[in-house]
Amino acid sequence: MKTFHNINVPHPFPYQGSKRSIAKYILPYFPFNVRCLIEPFCGAGAVSIAAAAHGLAKRFALNDLNKPLMELWIEILERPELLCDEYERQWLEQYPDRKSYFFKVRDEFNTTHNPHQLLYLLARIVKGSVRYSSDGLFNQSADNRRSGMRPNTMRQNIFGVSALLARKTTISAVDFRKAVKKAENNDLVYMDPPYQGTSFTRDHRYFNGLSYDDFVDVLVLLNEKNISYIISYDGVTGNKNHGKLLPNSLSLRHLHIHAGRSSQATLLGNSHKTIESLYLSSSLVHRLESEKSARKGYEEKVQQELVLI
Ligand SMILES: C[S@@+](CC[C@H](N)C(=O)[O-])C[C@H]1O[C@@H](n2cnc3c(N)ncnc32)[C@H](O)[C@@H]1O
Repeated sequence: MKTFHNINVPHPFPYQGSKRSIAKYILPYFPFNVRCLIEPFCGAGAVSIAAAAHGLAKRFALNDLNKPLMELWIEILERPELLCDEYERQWLEQYPDRKSYFFKVRDEFNTTHNPHQLLYLLARIVKGSVRYSSDGLFNQSADNRRSGMRPNTMRQNIFGVSALLARKTTISAVDFRKAVKKAENNDLVYMDPPYQGTSFTRDHRYFNGLSYDDFVDVLVLLNEKNISYIISYDGVTGNKNHGKLLPNSLSLRHLHIHAGRSSQATLLGNSHKTIESLYLSSSLVHRLESEKSARKGYEEKVQQELVLI
């Protein structure tokens, strides 16, 4: 059986809704020999990064409807040196008036969509919570108590992510329906759509919303093609359930992960524990069952060995 040791997991930028802290509870449901891990709602790609750190997939396909975000991903993978230099330049330039510097970069970004500027904005905004106005302008404010990740730490993270994913990752910025079309039977699709609480109307926390029915339609198609997939879908915070469950007709296995403090609740001043829902497709469940004897002890090892940096 594969043996593991402590593995450092870098992260490219702060992003609200990132699965960074719970990736280790999701990885144990990865089958062996994943040809390509497809993340159609990738954001900061926490699950792909953790999976790459563990060698759990040969290739990766990252997608998000937010085009500037995916251009930032291209810079991370192809030009990390330039990206880190530009981050450092902006980070130093922001003094002494970080407040007005942030607004200047934000205004420029809304015209240029320059990924170097986006990285600076992501590092400075309140809890990495991206917000767009109804006409698509980035309108989140800075957290002026903080200066954003120090350039050296950013460099360590960006180079870490780049080393894990460069040359084995394809990037796209299309609707999730298109991104999952290329999935094959030996792939795994990991889906982390926007939270239902906000996604049935226009989702201002992200680039776009998506409808429950559209999402379910795609899952029906994936089932017809026997595609293995995992979905993180809305949680329970305290005793509040955030959304509609996925229908039984999809024959999914529904699991709950205790995800610690909810960043949403923390923003609102509460500290409830979040229980995240995880759904596994039935073809994934069959795949895992067929690997059962080889997987003994494997899940615990995967969880214990991931160390967040
Ligand atoms: C919950 S976040 C994903 C966070 C990610 N798992 C991480 O670890 O950072 C959901 C993402 O879905 C994207 N999104 C929203 N609607 C989409 C759509 N129709 N197609 C593709 N991506 C979409 C948003 O831009 C957002 O980045």
